[in-house]
Amino acid sequence: MRPTLIATIGPAGAGKTTWRHRHAPPEATVISLDERRAALSPCGCSADPAANAAAVADGTAETRAVLAAGGTVVWDVTNYLPRFRAHLLAVAAGYDAATVGLVVCPPLLTVLARNSRRDGRVCAVCGTARRVPDPVVWAMHTAITAALPSLHREGWHTLRFLSLPPYLHHRHHRRTT
Ligand SMILES: Nc1ncnc2c1ncn2[C@@H]1O[C@H](COP(=O)(O)OP(=O)(O)O)[C@@H](O)[C@H]1O
Ligand SMILES: [Mg+2]
Ligand SMILES: [Zn+2]
Repeated sequence: MRPTLIATIGPAGAGKTTWRHRHAPPEATVISLDERRAALSPCGCSADPAANAAAVADGTAETRAVLAAGGTVVWDVTNYLPRFRAHLLAVAAGYDAATVGLVVCPPLLTVLARNSRRDGRVCAVCGTARRVPDPVVWAMHTAITAALPSLHREGWHTLRFLSLPPYLHHRHHRRTT
């Protein structure tokens, strides 16, 4: 079977993890940066910035191994920066993997409301909380919204859009290059 990389693209609180719990292919290896950071962080925090680089490196190494074996990887990650999406696409290209970008981007107010229900207590060690500061959610949402018109030029074989109004669905996206 052709190796496959599925990557979510969505701000914190959008519903990415909910989606992958419900819909990730059962045989897929899930790479969750939140879970990896929490496992690597001395204080156990999923947003600990000190654990980020190692979480990305470990997740990338595991991705390479799974793709090399012809498997499927699901990245549960915000992917709100173009360079992060480019990193995953470059890794996938090294194994001629099929790539699926899954945009999980409900309206900003929905995302802010979901984020506001998370625990806002700040860790004394790493300074983060499960609840992301509203301006950060807003900035992620803005960056992804701004990228929407050009996502089809980034190199994804398939793009899927969750939680968008029907008139914004790109039902027939196919990479042409
Ligand atoms: N489709 C949905 N409808 C209603 N609530 C949702 C939906 N998807 C996620 N949620 C809720 O939104 C919050 C954030 O979801 P989560 O999947 O953890 O987001 P993310 O992983 O993108 O940060 C959770 O409380 C979750 O229960
Ligand atoms: Mg999540
Ligand atoms: Zn912490």
